[in-house]
Amino acid sequence: MTTALITGASSGIGAEFARQLASRGTDVVLVARSRDRLQQLAEELQERYEIRATVLAGDLTRPEDIERVYEETEGRGTAIDLLVNNAGFGDYGEFAESDRAKILSMVQLNVMALVDLTHRFLQPMRQRGSGCIVNVGSIASFQALPYFAVYAATKAFVLSFSEALWAENDKTGVKILAICPGPTDTNFFEVSGSPPSNGNSSQLVSPETVVREAIAALDRDTACTIAGGLVNQAIATLPRLFPRDVLVRAIEQQFRPKSREN
Ligand SMILES: NC(=O)c1ccc[n+]([C@@H]2O[C@H](COP(=O)([O-])OP(=O)(O)OC[C@H]3O[C@@H](n4cnc5c(N)ncnc54)[C@H](OP(=O)(O)O)[C@@H]3O)[C@@H](O)[C@H]2O)c1
Repeated sequence: MTTALITGASSGIGAEFARQLASRGTDVVLVARSRDRLQQLAEELQERYEIRATVLAGDLTRPEDIERVYEETEGRGTAIDLLVNNAGFGDYGEFAESDRAKILSMVQLNVMALVDLTHRFLQPMRQRGSGCIVNVGSIASFQALPYFAVYAATKAFVLSFSEALWAENDKTGVKILAICPGPTDTNFFEVSGSPPSNGNSSQLVSPETVVREAIAALDRDTACTIAGGLVNQAIATLPRLFPRDVLVRAIEQQFRPKSREN
């Protein structure tokens, strides 16, 4: 029996990771702020798959909550075999007009919490000579996005960090994987205040598909997988084909908020 700790497990991609891992007989530790939603999911998974599901409600922008997540798992002898650093959010709009507290909290969650949790859980995994860490990036990891400037920068960090750790941990028995989904049908767009996929909700991929592809990629020795099909593969490849300033200007037009259009 293995145990997975999933951050941002109360909805979307994180909840789906919990479902698919539980369906394979993996015990799960569910982390997010919404205790009731985590509790409901834990009960559903325990009943359906006869696994152990533990709820650790906490706000991962708070270093003390991260400490508690570690202490209540590895600190009490529960080995975490798979860490899924999934919790994250975006904020759509012009940077100069954004809410400073909100964007700083995004960096705290998308970057600082992910680095902190990775650093804590990687060490016991290396001592055991086994384990996996999945970091949720985005196709935004590959390209600067005007009006999602801070979000895309956090996701570029996630990809760069994960690829470096993947190479550093070769032969330690620990796998590091960045998964980079494209637009996915979750609460992300509501939370970030952006229209889904620039208004085209038919382009959204299901969280089921994203997580199925991520779990399949864990069986391969790869640092990064782009989830959600060929269109997302193409989008992730574009920055290599065009001059950077040409591409970022074109994206600025595509992402420009309606309120700024003349
Ligand atoms: N949907 C997309 O199109 C898309 C594409 C590429 C990458 N992603 C990435 O996928 C990941 C999951 O997002 P999603 O699409 O599944 O969106 P979502 O449904 O909004 O899920 C976000 C999760 O993060 C948790 N969370 C937010 N703030 C938190 C905090 N301070 N502390 C602990 N947990 C927190 C939320 O739970 P609580 O509110 O209960 O805390 C929720 O469980 C994110 O990293 C996102 O950037 C999404």
